[in-house]
Amino acid sequence: MENKHFLLITLPSQGHINPMLQLGKCLIHAGAGRVTFATTVHGLSQIKAFPSLENLHYASFSDGFDDGIKPTNDPHHIMSELKRVGSQTLAALLLSLSKDGNPVSFLIYTILLPWAADVARYMSIPSAFLCIQSTTALALCYCFFKEHDGVYDDNDNSRPSSIDIIGLPPFTSKDLPSFLLPNDAYASTLIPVFQHHIQTLEKDSNPCVLLNTFDCLEEEAIRALSNLNPIPIGPLVSYAFLDENHPTDSSCGIDLFEKSVDYSQWLNSKPKGPVVYVSFGSLAVLQRNQMEKILLGLIGSRQPFLWVIRPSGSNDSEFEEMVKNKVSEEVGLIVPWCSQKEVLAHKSIGCSITHCGWNSTVESLAAGVPVVGFPQFSDQTTNAKMVEETWRTGVRVRVNEAGSLEAEEIGRCLEMVMGGGERGEEIRRNARKWKGLALEAVMEEGGSSYNNLKAFVKKIQVI
Ligand code: UDX
Repeated sequence: MENKHFLLITLPSQGHINPMLQLGKCLIHAGAGRVTFATTVHGLSQIKAFPSLENLHYASFSDGFDDGIKPTNDPHHIMSELKRVGSQTLAALLLSLSKDGNPVSFLIYTILLPWAADVARYMSIPSAFLCIQSTTALALCYCFFKEHDGVYDDNDNSRPSSIDIIGLPPFTSKDLPSFLLPNDAYASTLIPVFQHHIQTLEKDSNPCVLLNTFDCLEEEAIRALSNLNPIPIGPLVSYAFLDENHPTDSSCGIDLFEKSVDYSQWLNSKPKGPVVYVSFGSLAVLQRNQMEKILLGLIGSRQPFLWVIRPSGSNDSEFEEMVKNKVSEEVGLIVPWCSQKEVLAHKSIGCSITHCGWNSTVESLAAGVPVVGFPQFSDQTTNAKMVEETWRTGVRVRVNEAGSLEAEEIGRCLEMVMGGGERGEEIRRNARKWKGLALEAVMEEGGSSYNNLKAFVKKIQVI
């Protein structure tokens, strides 16, 4: 392994960077000679602090918008520039690494970059796709695209009444990744990209999909992808977070946002269990009305809360005024960003209200924290269904007939998850169970993901 060099490429989105960086650390831990983590030129320039680890290096490729300014919001244009410029600059990066005496032995790419596999194949470099979303969401796309083209339209009689994965409850439009549906603004851009991912993998004589999951968490979806050589190696969350006594991987991650408010003292002042952690990830922007209802629901529940509201997540002076009037330190704390994994591991946290982005979902699961899911878009609806119906570690927020959220619904969900009823007991018991299983998968000699990563690395060794 000493001379094996892995190039990991990802878009500069927090939800893509985090699992990819963790994979890089795992590869080094497993003996990779060198790992280069690459993102776009502008993305790299936004990183304030780089984790420093022996054999971990950083590089960039261009997406055509190096100054970060996109002349249009047209997703078709952005994706086609990304593919056109990205393919050229990735090829140039591979050549320059080789010229410098560090030829790349293996390329790993994330979602929205299927053309990276084409570049790698052209240069005779083997590659793997790292799925940073849930395996269930990927399997749903795979099953649907096998038989159908275009969107999953409820009004189209030729489409199936649900998409089925053997062993799981049926997925209807309310549970499917939003980009499969006709009313999603990104469907017409993202569907061809997903199809490209699948075609690229199917074309590969030796396909490989690395999954941020573990065998028993999504066994049905993993099985549904068996033609693509799926390798579950997750959860890709830092080992130090999973077990504070673990000797490796205490180095930090990459944050694209500033943690400008100190919340540790506030958390430390709370007893075990009552705090609700609220976060909707790095992309979602909730409507003011929804923010107000969540705030009123939290206040009504009388549970203290730590809520991440990114500066870009609300510019609403009326909401800010409401917060000023209603939220004392006793009631809750609002911060622009935090170390989510550390917060989830804090003894005071009893529940997480989350959009069910895949990273937040596996991080809550690995921390044993029950979830109230309020999915917004993408794979989040699918993940929320799995949380509620399959793993039974939480509940999903219901909106009313007019599609609006009520404060009472937040209160109802918090009571269900944190209260003394039978359902709450079951949810908390399941959360503890899945935490144990997640830990076992990655940490222990013989754990399924631990073994899978070791076998993957061993295979690369002889390439
Ligand atoms: C995106 C998509 O929206 C999501 O559906 C997909 O599954 C992954 O990519 P994002 O919305 O950012 O991700 O959510 P998530 O997947 O949960 O990733 C957010 C990451 O940011 C998590 O790793 C979380 O720990 C981190 N985070 C979030 C912080 O470190 N601090 C915060 O304050 C908030």
